[in-house]
Amino acid sequence: MKKFRKKLVAGNWKMNKTVADAQKLADGIKDALADCREVDVVLCPPFTALKAVGEVIDATSIKLGAQNMHWEASGAYTGEISGSMLRDLYCHYVILGHSERRSYFGETNDVVNRKVKAALGAKLIPIVCVGETLQERDAGRMQEVVESQLVHSLADLGERLGEIIVAYEPVWAIGTGRTASPEQAQDMHAFIREAVGKLGGVETASKMRLLYGGSMKPDNAVALLAQPDIDGGLIGGAALETRAFVEIVRAAIPKREPGLPAGTVE
Ligand code: PGA
Repeated sequence: MKKFRKKLVAGNWKMNKTVADAQKLADGIKDALADCREVDVVLCPPFTALKAVGEVIDATSIKLGAQNMHWEASGAYTGEISGSMLRDLYCHYVILGHSERRSYFGETNDVVNRKVKAALGAKLIPIVCVGETLQERDAGRMQEVVESQLVHSLADLGERLGEIIVAYEPVWAIGTGRTASPEQAQDMHAFIREAVGKLGGVETASKMRLLYGGSMKPDNAVALLAQPDIDGGLIGGAALETRAFVEIVRAAIPKREPGLPAGTVE
């Protein structure tokens, strides 16, 4: 049975852009991609620019995402933002468990798991990040580390496991200009799909979109996105420039095989 997984490219703007700069970037992306139906495009600006960017992309196929959220719906959690607040601003997606949150802000798999459940409860689609450090890769422990992140971050989701998007982001490739080779990325994506299969069944795993993140740029996007288990990208640095981001999205547009719907894979 051949499966169709529509590619998704998300821009993670991290802690960058004032409201005015965010509007300008979103405007440029909208002009280039408003009619792009072949790829799901998601912009994840900082919280402060969500509303403004949401207004720019309103009535286009481009969707809004946040970079983090708290697991409670409301209450005395100074400085935090809840899933319902994100929905209130028309967010559809939320990045959870990014390695920068794990390493700088102490987010554990247990915390990520609580956030994933809260996001699903708030009708947000979680983009859950996993990935090993260079030390872990050099020690040959990358699969063990990534599987443990998956098992614990995605624990007890039942049927809703199928709503998750996973982003494989090797920590050594994030913001370093050093990308995983297409083969390294494909190997890990195939492993992740297998691990998800063990958690929620082969059918769920075969439908799940797995994004690659870590120094994806226009010049390496084509080769990465051509891998059978890479269903899109989570883009940091290159998402801050209209041209680079748009080129990556264009690289994700499927090439049609004769007689098959676009993006069909074995
Ligand atoms: P990068 O970031 O593309 O700048 O490496 C990716 C990410 O952290 O999501």
